[in-house]
Order: sequence, then structure tokens, then C-alpha cells
Amino acid sequence: MNSKIEHKPVLLNEVLKYVLPPNPETFADVTLGLAGHTKAVLEKYPALKAAVGIDKDGEILKYSEERCSDPRLKRFKAAASDILSVMNKAGLSGFDGILADLGVSSYQLNAPQRGFSFMNSGLLDMRMDQEFGATAADLVNNLDEQELAKIFFEYGEEKFSRKIAKLIVEKRAVKPIETTEELAQIAMDSIPAKEKNRMKIHPATKIFQALRIKVNGELDELSAFLPAALEALNPGGRLTVISFHSLEDRIVKQFFNRMKQGCVCPPKFPICTCGKKPVIEVLTSKAIFAEDSEIEENPRARSARLRSCRKLPEGPVS
Ligand SMILES: C[S@@+](CC[C@H](N)C(=O)[O-])C[C@H]1O[C@@H](n2cnc3c(N)ncnc32)[C@H](O)[C@@H]1O
Repeated sequence: MNSKIEHKPVLLNEVLKYVLPPNPETFADVTLGLAGHTKAVLEKYPALKAAVGIDKDGEILKYSEERCSDPRLKRFKAAASDILSVMNKAGLSGFDGILADLGVSSYQLNAPQRGFSFMNSGLLDMRMDQEFGATAADLVNNLDEQELAKIFFEYGEEKFSRKIAKLIVEKRAVKPIETTEELAQIAMDSIPAKEKNRMKIHPATKIFQALRIKVNGELDELSAFLPAALEALNPGGRLTVISFHSLEDRIVKQFFNRMKQGCVCPPKFPICTCGKKPVIEVLTSKAIFAEDSEIEENPRARSARLRSCRKLPEGPVS
């Protein structure tokens, strides 16, 4: 990879504002990517003792070394939800800050051989971890029509999910669908011309998003990561999550709402019998979006939203 390619981490100022409490010693970036955020965190906190960078993608971990060679950073090929075992492997007992910048990186999107984008011609792969699991082509060529339609509807909120699934099944009966171009053309051909003219995004955008979420188990992974991250945080430590679509953001928001809640006894109970205590304080009352000036420079920032919380010094994590 050309290390001169400019890489702009999204919502960088906001990340630096929320990600760590004063005088931190340890930090984890569970979606290291090209280490844009982590490099800036390490620069801002020269006294930070240890940082852990996790990514499912072995290729990107290797490239991140060109971007950030700080000896305090240890890299691990793992899933974000494995944060507790990575913490043990790194010989640490907790983190003062954990960052997750979800989804795919611009490097992955721009690499044609990874098959993430209909803007590049390549094989339909879409796996973040290239050593594991079914590819997008496996799903498109093997799942039945109803399952495909369900994925497009649930993970892509695609209005024409059934029409697209139907045409996929017709086309693959003639020849397997192997490339990003073939799938993008099917989406194009399934959507009525009148609708297409009104669309602000490419007709394949939502089904590519849906397949990527399914291939990488992104929503299940996020649901497993959040409680593990709270467990891995030191008291007073912070968890900051950047998500890129409402399905992810809803999971983060609902999790924060559950964890910040204290007693859940009915109001008529004279004393609390549930014993539930708040586990976190939410630091961002609403999701934070990028300023127009950032979106102008980096269009990917348009859909980014950040939420952050602080683990309370007392209270269980469950
Ligand atoms: C948006 S990029 C992160 C970019 C990074 N913040 C930077 O500034 O360079 C997301 C990265 O996280 C990885 N990733 C996404 N979800 C993951 C998960 N659940 N576990 C581990 N890695 C994940 C992807 O492979 C990708 O490299």
C-alpha cells in the first residue's frame, strides 16, 4: 500500500475530547484500521504506558505499522468482542479508554480484491477476516430467495429487497454471480426506472451494506463487544463508539440506556428491591455528528455518529 495515501480518521477532535479520562495509562482501539485515531491518541498522551490495537483484518494490521510505529502499541488480529482475552494476552488488567470506529476502512473499500464496493470491480468477498467464514459470493449463490430478501430488508432497509432477491435467483440459475459489477447490475435492473431517477444513492448501496453486515456478523459482534468492553474498562474509564448507520447506533444507544439506569422497581414500591445501580454515566446526551467542514473534506464522515460513556467507579457490570 502507498503509505503516502492520505487517511483522515473521522471525528478526530471529538474522539480526542472523549476517549480518555485525565492522566490515562492504558488504551485500546478495537478497530485499529490504519491507526489514524490511535496515532493521534498516542501523540496527545505521551505519558500513556500501553496501547492495544485490535483488527479482524490481518492485512490492514500490517499496513498500520507503516502509519504508526510507536513502541507502546501492541497489535492483535482478533474480533473486538475478544477484548478481554486480548487484554490478558497483553498482560494488562484494564483499560482507561476503549475506542470502536465501526465498519470498514477506506483502505478496504478502495481495494478492489476485497469486494466491498460496487465502485470497484472485484470478486464478491467482503470478509474483514480473510481467513474465516463465508464470502458475499457464497451467500448470494447459496441462500434461498426469502433469506436473501430478509438480509437486504433487515440489514439494508432496502425497499426492493424481494425484487432484487428474485432476480439474483434467476441470474444465478444461469451462471454463478461472482463479481461486484454483476451484483450491482442486478440491483440496477431490479429497481423500477421511476424510482431509480429519484434515488440519491447508487441502487446497489443498501444491498452491499446488508451483505457486508451479514458476512461479518457485525450486529451480533457489536452486541457482544459492548458488555465485554465495559468489563475491560477500569473504573472511571471511557468507552467511545463511532457508528455509521442507524442499526449499529440503535444497539449502542439502547445498551447505554440500559447501563445508565438505576433502580427499576415499580414506582409504588416503598423501597428498592431490585438493587440495580447505574453502571455508566453517558457523556454524550445525543449522538455527535461531524461538522459540515469535516464532511466537505471527508464525505465518509457524513454518516458517522459518536457516543461515549464513563464507567462509574462502583457498580457491577452485567
Ligand atoms: C472504520 S475502520 C477504522 C479506522 C481507524 N479508526 C483509523 O483511524 O484508521 C474499521 C476497522 O475495524 C475493523 N473492524 C470492524 N469491525 C471489527 C470487529 N468487530 N472486530 C475487529 N475489527 C473490526 C475493520 O477491519 C477496519 O479495519
